[in-house]
Amino acid sequence: MTDITPLRDFIRDMTRLANEGATESRWLTEGAGLLRRLVATDGWLPEAYAEAGPRYRQYLLHCDPLERFCVVSFVWGPGQRTPIHNHTVWGLVGMLRGEEISTEMRAGAPMLPGQVDRLREGEVVAVSADTYDIHVVENALADRASISIHVYGGNIGAIARSVFDGETGATKRFISGYDNEAVPNLWDRSKEMVAA
Ligand SMILES: [Fe+2]
Repeated sequence: MTDITPLRDFIRDMTRLANEGATESRWLTEGAGLLRRLVATDGWLPEAYAEAGPRYRQYLLHCDPLERFCVVSFVWGPGQRTPIHNHTVWGLVGMLRGEEISTEMRAGAPMLPGQVDRLREGEVVAVSADTYDIHVVENALADRASISIHVYGGNIGAIARSVFDGETGATKRFISGYDNEAVPNLWDRSKEMVAA
């Protein structure tokens, strides 16, 4: 049985940061600290948002009503990877289960790999339109699914961004959408009320 409380607390704290008008540098430091705390424990992600599919899955867990940030669970089956893509907004990636590899890609024909980050359970890294915005991400484990929790500075599934051809560097317009139609119910607090 999952207990969604840590996700609700995280979204509340991130909403406070948004209300304070946080700069990107605050999101990438204080927001990263909050995400580190969220992925330090497992057991809060409902099963429906942890299922792998025939290609990698991106499940929206929450979008701020003013689209100042969103929270997404990415589920990578064995061998699954993204196309080379950018974000255009700041982002945070926290590893909940398993491991993933993010490889920065530099413009050119062909595009060349830059920094490589191997993310292990509990670790958090940032992406930023100013420094590290184009990458490819893959499951680092060949025998099981990996899950990472992403936060972006906007409604990432509805932002027009780009995918890149690694050989030619050519770009194509990309709007990722999400794989789910319903978001998790954060607000059934009846059990704690019964226990009180
Ligand atoms: Fe990405």
